[in-house]
Amino acid sequence: MTQPIDIRPATGRLGVLTPGLGAVASTFIAGVLAARAGLTVPIGALSQMAHIRLGERDEQRNPLIREFVPLAGLDDLVFGGWDPISANVLEAARTCGVLEERDLNAISGELESIVSMDAVFDQRWVKKLDGHRVKQVTGAWDQAQALVEDIERFRTENDCERLVMVWCGSTEAYQEVSDVHLSLEAFEAGLRSDDPNISPSQLYAYAALTCGVPFANGAPNLSVDLPAMRELAQREGVPIAGKDFKTGQTFMKTMLAPGLKARMLGLRGWYSTNILGNRDGEVLDDPENFKTKEMSKLGVLDTILQPSLYPDLYGNIDHVVRINYYPPRGDNKEGWDNIDIFGWMGYPMQIKIDFLCRDSILAAPIVLDLALFLDLAARADQHGVQEWLSFYFKSPQSTEAGMPAEHDLFIQQIKLKNTLREWMGEEPVTHSEA
Ligand SMILES: NC(=O)c1ccc[n+]([C@@H]2O[C@H](COP(=O)([O-])OP(=O)(O)OC[C@H]3O[C@@H](n4cnc5c(N)ncnc54)[C@H](O)[C@@H]3O)[C@@H](O)[C@H]2O)c1
Repeated sequence: MTQPIDIRPATGRLGVLTPGLGAVASTFIAGVLAARAGLTVPIGALSQMAHIRLGERDEQRNPLIREFVPLAGLDDLVFGGWDPISANVLEAARTCGVLEERDLNAISGELESIVSMDAVFDQRWVKKLDGHRVKQVTGAWDQAQALVEDIERFRTENDCERLVMVWCGSTEAYQEVSDVHLSLEAFEAGLRSDDPNISPSQLYAYAALTCGVPFANGAPNLSVDLPAMRELAQREGVPIAGKDFKTGQTFMKTMLAPGLKARMLGLRGWYSTNILGNRDGEVLDDPENFKTKEMSKLGVLDTILQPSLYPDLYGNIDHVVRINYYPPRGDNKEGWDNIDIFGWMGYPMQIKIDFLCRDSILAAPIVLDLALFLDLAARADQHGVQEWLSFYFKSPQSTEAGMPAEHDLFIQQIKLKNTLREWMGEEPVTHSEA
């Protein structure tokens, strides 16, 4: 028997803060409120729906995860967020058009009462949006301090025992790590000198971590994927996770690629294209913002397929990803994949996927799981990158900077569940036992 670690109980209220109150955040909040009112069940959320096997197969111990680990309950969640456009969550939900009016009606009062705080927003990073609910504070240092004040005011006004923050804001323009990101000292100097390489999402992350608030990044921009933020997370003893929610096409990719590899089938090319018409699609219509997303989506195949180990099978792959903004489709994205594979004696075959998915319907349960699991990690005194949450991300951050991340969905799932087992003093399930 392994020793359980100490985890403080989930007493009191947990505030869930989202920079960005758009399609994903409003769908997430609406779903939790509807589940709380008994109008729906939280489909897609492991924290609510999944069981976890404990011990040997024939022991028949399969509790729900939420009964096995001390998670905050849905009734204890309080929501808040910032947005430069949406006035409140009801307006956001209606504008993005993910949920039907009949589903919003029953909870419309609660949704409307969640009013956006003015955002720290800079159009240089999101050219396609014209924000007007924006803080009038100038200078990166003062903007970060204004966010800290928002966080602490929210904590007090809502009587929250703990807070978590999940970035649900737009994808920012592509950016490489620069000198200002390499240490906390350089970053704080950059805040004071208003360094142009510090983006708004980094200001939210900095503010959250200095307030001891765990931070998850649902978009592909750097935010907490920076040496300075890792250092800050360690110093403050706060868990972080990122980046870019793994929802539609990449979710499919990280399910299929491990299967092809498991059977030693070759891959010659993978062409992925998407049409979507929501605000996210509009933002990604700008080449600089698309590049951030493209890099995130392109990364997955190489680490799963290991071309250097398998040059005959995966040494020559054309991997292409396209996203086109097509307004009639709204949030109901269509993702096509053409996959050129080959088998015995090199004979070619093709797989076609046409995934008519609803982006925010897939992302909402991820926000819930990340909020609850990051809060659990904080109560378990876990600091820095939470690699066991890679399951939820297209570009997972690894614990050690520079260490290759794990992309295989099934390995990620095993790691997630084994982490929970180990924390609770149960043996990990390796499948070599009965
Ligand atoms: N839906 C998915 O399946 C999915 C998957 C992976 C990643 N993502 C990412 O999640 C994020 C949210 O997606 P969405 O569909 O809700 O997009 P959305 O455009 O509907 O919502 C994003 C919101 O962020 C706001 N925003 C922009 N800059 C901000 C700032 N500086 N501070 C606060 N708010 C800001 C925008 O006004 C907008 O309302 C995007 O970055 C998207 O790329 C979504």
